Amino acid sequence: MVVKKLTLKNFRNYEEETFVFDEGLNVLAGKNAQGKTNCAEAVFYLCTGASLRIRHDRQLIRIGADCARISAVAEGRGGTVFLEAAVYENRRELFVNGNKVGRSVDFLGNMKSVFFSPGELRLIQDGPDERRRFLNLSISQTSREYASALLRFRRILDQRNDLLKEKDRGLVEETLPIWDEQFALYAARIACKRRDYLGELSKGAAEAHAFLTDGAEQLALSSDTKYRGDEEAVAAKLVRELAASRERDLRLGFTTVGPHRDDIDIRINGVDARGFSSQGQARTAALSMKLAEVALFTRLSGEPPVLILDDVMSELDLPRRKKLLARIRGLQCILTCTHAERVLYGTECRRIRIHGGKIIE
Ligand SMILES: Nc1ncnc2c1ncn2[C@@H]1O[C@H](COP(=O)(O)OP(=O)(O)OP(=O)(O)O)[C@@H](O)[C@H]1O
Ligand SMILES: [Mg+2]
Repeated sequence: MVVKKLTLKNFRNYEEETFVFDEGLNVLAGKNAQGKTNCAEAVFYLCTGASLRIRHDRQLIRIGADCARISAVAEGRGGTVFLEAAVYENRRELFVNGNKVGRSVDFLGNMKSVFFSPGELRLIQDGPDERRRFLNLSISQTSREYASALLRFRRILDQRNDLLKEKDRGLVEETLPIWDEQFALYAARIACKRRDYLGELSKGAAEAHAFLTDGAEQLALSSDTKYRGDEEAVAAKLVRELAASRERDLRLGFTTVGPHRDDIDIRINGVDARGFSSQGQARTAALSMKLAEVALFTRLSGEPPVLILDDVMSELDLPRRKKLLARIRGLQCILTCTHAERVLYGTECRRIRIHGGKIIE
């Protein structure tokens, strides 16, 4: 799938601008703070319905405006898709081919993208929520079933947590087992899907990491081993675990077991990368995970996603830069940088210069 055209209206520092992209490499060049990342962020938003950098959509609206609009024309195996998002102060509207969609689940995944920026170090070095967020966004783009299970699960988790704070003990004793059944059902679906997805992603990540480090390092990703068997078996196990932790959950006022607490185990040469990797190792490991995501998306949906590389070239040494460029050949890539010439070494690409939220011809 390729993005042909992207129009931004009152989005971040853009008043109104239309980008036309090539099927191969597109280089967004410009000085700092001109709008390169903003453009990349807009593409990602149309793919996932979520921003990478922020929790509140309203920050996407250009200061002084009341609505930000992002729209894109994408072309893929299934034909042409027109995607649009209108973001207001306290709500948003999403459209696919001009039809308003009520649920974000129906919006995401129509166009797929993989995003990599220096901030992706967080994926390796920060806490488990970064890694869960990565998995959730990644799997959701390729599986609507996962995205809806996640939505249901979050609602059930909130309700269960509310119930745990309830003063009426009788009511709690009576209703908690019912919530536990529901919780376990969706939790198991999520856990099993993550486990299987990670199994696939791990192979690609190991291969990409070996490629980027010339075989010097081995990268291994795995999910917690506590989920074995099919969904039913995992759900049954979760019901038992919920019952066992009920007293503790009641004391703490929240649910202490389930996929909302899980993590990805990441090892470089057998050592836990989460606490012990160098900056360069962590960066390369994160990049390997993203390249694995590209390969997996391609396999699952039969066509490559749009690869967004935000400001990554300056962070890589020359051999890795060349390897990365070799790796992405043939993919549609939106790459941002401050010095286009130095990065590209004669690579064929479309160059787009950005200054002050405007494209400079
Ligand atoms: N809602 C908004 N309204 C107006 N301007 C905004 C809004 N959000 C962000 N900006 C501005 O957009 C500008 C460009 O941001 P962006 O992150 O795209 O820069 P960049 O070109 O990627 O720069 P760098 O090379 O430093 O990464 C920033 O100066 C920022 O203050
Ligand atoms: Mg930037």
